[in-house]
Amino acid sequence: MEFFIDTAIVDEIKEINAWGVLSGVTTNPSLIVASGRDFREVVQEIAELVGGAISAEVTSLDAEEMIREGKEVAQWSEHVVVKLPLTPAGLQACRALTAEGIKTNVTLCFSVPQALLAARAGATYISPFAGRVDDIGWDGIDLIRQIKEAYVLGGIETKVLAASIRHPMHVVQSALAGADVATIPYKVFTQMIKHPLTQAGLDGFMKDWAKRAGASAETP
Ligand code: E4P
Repeated sequence: MEFFIDTAIVDEIKEINAWGVLSGVTTNPSLIVASGRDFREVVQEIAELVGGAISAEVTSLDAEEMIREGKEVAQWSEHVVVKLPLTPAGLQACRALTAEGIKTNVTLCFSVPQALLAARAGATYISPFAGRVDDIGWDGIDLIRQIKEAYVLGGIETKVLAASIRHPMHVVQSALAGADVATIPYKVFTQMIKHPLTQAGLDGFMKDWAKRAGASAETP
């Protein structure tokens, strides 16, 4: 399973990208607003930093406008993936943009029927929102598992992008459910890397290393 980061904050992207684990970035209109940056400027800066798939979402609700907007954002960088909402207009735009060779990420997916429709419209990625499904008392990870199963059975190549990830176990469960990608917030990356035994083990090694003959107190 690949990792994308779900943010438009460049410092967060730089920090996690330096770990060497990122294959892409997802943004949405709320994340762009939270970054306080100009849409085009921030998407282009991210694309240069990461060099993988960068999802940039259209904000029109009408199909013709979505297609126009999608074509425009796709020109900002070869790495841009046009993010479209799972609506009739979004599917129409997905089909039109796919026909032009533009990659798409169909977002706000909350059911298997929706995911099947997006795949038929040619979506490159489908984004089921695990956390938001959990929020209404359903099982977001089971949704990801069912979508992946239906896609495999149908020979569908659309990639399952687990979204709305809220904690490290969501990442583990998404991987076990067969997701191709998980888009993970910065905070969850920082939670994923931590383990008390790693820190305790490192502290012990450094303490012992400092005891070797001729070692000064500061040198590890
Ligand atoms: C996906 O691409 C979305 O940007 C994101 O995962 C939404 O997550 P949220 O439910 O935490 O807002």
